[in-house]
Order: sequence, then structure tokens, then C-alpha cells
Amino acid sequence: MPNRRKLNIAMVGYGFMGRAHSNAFHQAGHFFDLPFELGLKVICGRNKEKLQQTATQWGWEQTATDWQSVVGRPDIDIVDICTPNSLHAPIAIAAACADKIVMCEKPLANSVEQAERMAEAARGVPTLVWFNYRRVPAVRLAHQLISEGRIGDVFHYRGFYLQSWGRSPNDPGAWRFHPEEAGSGASGDLLSHSLDLATWLNGPVRRLCSSVHTFYPGRKVDDAVILLAEFSNGSIATFEASRFATGNQNRNAFEVNGSQGSLAFNLEEMNHLQFSDFSDESALQGFRKILVTGLGHAYVDHVWPPGHVIGYEHTFIFTLVDFLNALSSGNRFHPDFSDALATQRLLEAVAESGSRRLWVDVDHAETTTKAGSQR
Ligand SMILES: NC(=O)c1ccc[n+]([C@@H]2O[C@H](COP(=O)([O-])OP(=O)(O)OC[C@H]3O[C@@H](n4cnc5c(N)ncnc54)[C@H](O)[C@@H]3O)[C@@H](O)[C@H]2O)c1
Repeated sequence: MPNRRKLNIAMVGYGFMGRAHSNAFHQAGHFFDLPFELGLKVICGRNKEKLQQTATQWGWEQTATDWQSVVGRPDIDIVDICTPNSLHAPIAIAAACADKIVMCEKPLANSVEQAERMAEAARGVPTLVWFNYRRVPAVRLAHQLISEGRIGDVFHYRGFYLQSWGRSPNDPGAWRFHPEEAGSGASGDLLSHSLDLATWLNGPVRRLCSSVHTFYPGRKVDDAVILLAEFSNGSIATFEASRFATGNQNRNAFEVNGSQGSLAFNLEEMNHLQFSDFSDESALQGFRKILVTGLGHAYVDHVWPPGHVIGYEHTFIFTLVDFLNALSSGNRFHPDFSDALATQRLLEAVAESGSRRLWVDVDHAETTTKAGSQR
């Protein structure tokens, strides 16, 4: 594409997400015609040697060891935040105040107070929050089928995000166990994804009741959380997020049961969506497993021929492509800081409910949470 504007990126953090995003910045233009050219200008972290190694491996032009020196640079258009959660707010606010486009990993912040300041600072700039699972083609198909009324009125939403690494405190991602860096444990890390998906697929939550648990002795963040919830559309839900669900590696899953049918998804089999159509003749009733890599499925016609499956990394590529297209056409991208602030409010309601052992109403009009009736 001739004469595309170049957007230079400064990325802070070069760990797991740093690699996932670097890959997306490189790959997006190989699969899609992008409205912008992307420049991988500067990668930022604390360890000079490892940083240089990552920069070389992933094709970043420059390195910097302090993010403050980078986010306001005039040659930078996008600041992408891939750091532990506690740094999301200061980096995002500094970048937004410097009028940069801001991309930020999830959860948006460690508290609603921080998330509100971030959303306020970024009011005038385009933002993206990497709730990447919205862009799984099978999840896209689920959204389409729900929107078209193919499963009718929703009765039940069941979301769970199960991992099993919670007994490894010396893991390189040990910051996840420190409340000052992570904010919370399984709630912010895993449940945030489930809540983002659930509210996107099924609308706002109006009430919830949680039980938040730490199994590991002395640990100060939650290892697991379970949740009952009621949605504004009248459906009821259960959620479960755990780092102690032995045997599960990255089972981010949901099932939705409606008056006309049901849907089920599991990230560990991310190329598939299960669909049960109540209008099928009774002898054929049941879940059918659809391979979502073919004609009529989102994104995949840009990748490989039908049936040639895609992977985790594509969720970041598709998120980025949608963001760049929205930016180019002047449309608002979702999920942005404002959407992620709503998820942060839900997380705070979960924590409040867990500690006070109360049902909590989520007041969307006032965008505050307030304690409700006794359990
Ligand atoms: N979207 C997803 O599915 C997904 C998956 C994993 C992690 N995440 C989120 O991504 C973020 C990063 O997680 P990760 O798994 O990549 O962690 P990680 O531990 O692999 O990487 C964190 C990076 O931040 C850097 N860092 C820490 N303090 C810094 C500072 N002061 N200045 C500059 N860099 C600093 C570290 O050096 C490291 O490079 C977290 O917010 C996490 O919740 C999202």
C-alpha cells in the first residue's frame, strides 16, 4: 500500500507479552493490508543485556532502560505496555498526557481508582486493552450467533478460566504473587478475561456474589475465585478462575445456554466452537463441533486455507489489525480503556463481595459498586 503513515512503537516490557506483541507487530502486515506502516522503534526494560538480546531477536531498532525517557519522545506514536500490572497506570497516564496512542495489557490497573485516572487521561487518545480472546474466530462466531438470536434468550452463562501453576512461587513471573505489583491473583489475571468475554457476549452484570481463596500458605494474592452473577438480561451465571485447577493448563472456557440453543468454547481447542441448535429434529439434538477455520469465519481467510488451524499468536494479530482499521476509519475500538474500566469495576465488586461476604449490586448508571443484600 503506497503512502501509508508510519506509526512508531515504543514497547515497555519484553517478557511473555512483549514477545506476543512483537510477533503481532511483525506478522499483521504479512497477513493483512494494513492502513499504517508499523515501526518497531524502541523496546524498554531494566536488564540491558537481556533487552539487547530481545531487541535483536525480535527486530527492535533501539533499546532503553527507563520508560520515562521513551514515552514522550516526539518520534513515538504508540506506547505499548507489557509490564506487571502496577506499572500500567503510570506509563499509560504519562503516554496519554504526551498525546500518544496507548495500548495496555490486562487487567487495566490494580484498582478502580487507577483505572479511572487512566481512562480520564486517555479520553482524547485512541486506546486498546489486550483482551485478546475476543478475537478468537470461534469466539467471534459465538458472538455472531448470539447477536443473531440463534440461541434465543440466554438463561445460563458459565465461564471458567483454569490453570494449574499456582504451586510454583519461583516461576519467572513471580511478580504475579506480589500484591503491590499484581494487584490481585487469579481474579485480575484470569477472571478479568472471563468477565471481559462474558460482558461482550452477554451484556452487563448487575449483581454478583464471590468467594475468593488463597490456598498457598502465606500468599497475599488470591489463588482461586468463584462467582455467582446475574446479568441485566435476566440470565444467571457462574464463574470460576483458578491457578490450582490441576491438569488444566490454559482452559479459558464458556458455555451459554439459551431458549433456542447453546454454545461452548474452550481455548485449549481454540479452533472449535460447539453449537447445539434446538430447532434440529429431536433425534439429532446435541452439540456439534464446528471447525472455525473456513469460509464465513472471521479473519481466517487472511491466514491459511480452510481447515489449516491457527494459534494463540493470531489472537494478538487480529486484535492489532482491528485496532489499526478502527484508527484509520476514525471508529472507536473495543475493548478500550473505558471498556476495561468497566471490567475493573466488576473485579472490585468481586473483591468487595469476597471480603464482606455479601451480594454486591453493580450500578452501571452511576458506574460505582455498592453493597447489596446479605448472602
Ligand atoms: N492478554 C493476555 O492473555 C496476557 C497473558 C499474559 C500476561 N498478560 C499481561 O501482560 C502483562 C505482562 O505480563 P507478562 O506475562 O508478559 O510478564 P513477564 O514477567 O513475562 O514480563 C514482564 C516484563 O516487564 C518488565 N518490567 C518490569 N518492571 C519494569 C520496569 N520498571 N520498567 C520496564 N520494564 C519492566 C520485565 O523486565 C519483563 O520484561 C501483565 O499485565 C499481564 O497481566 C496478558
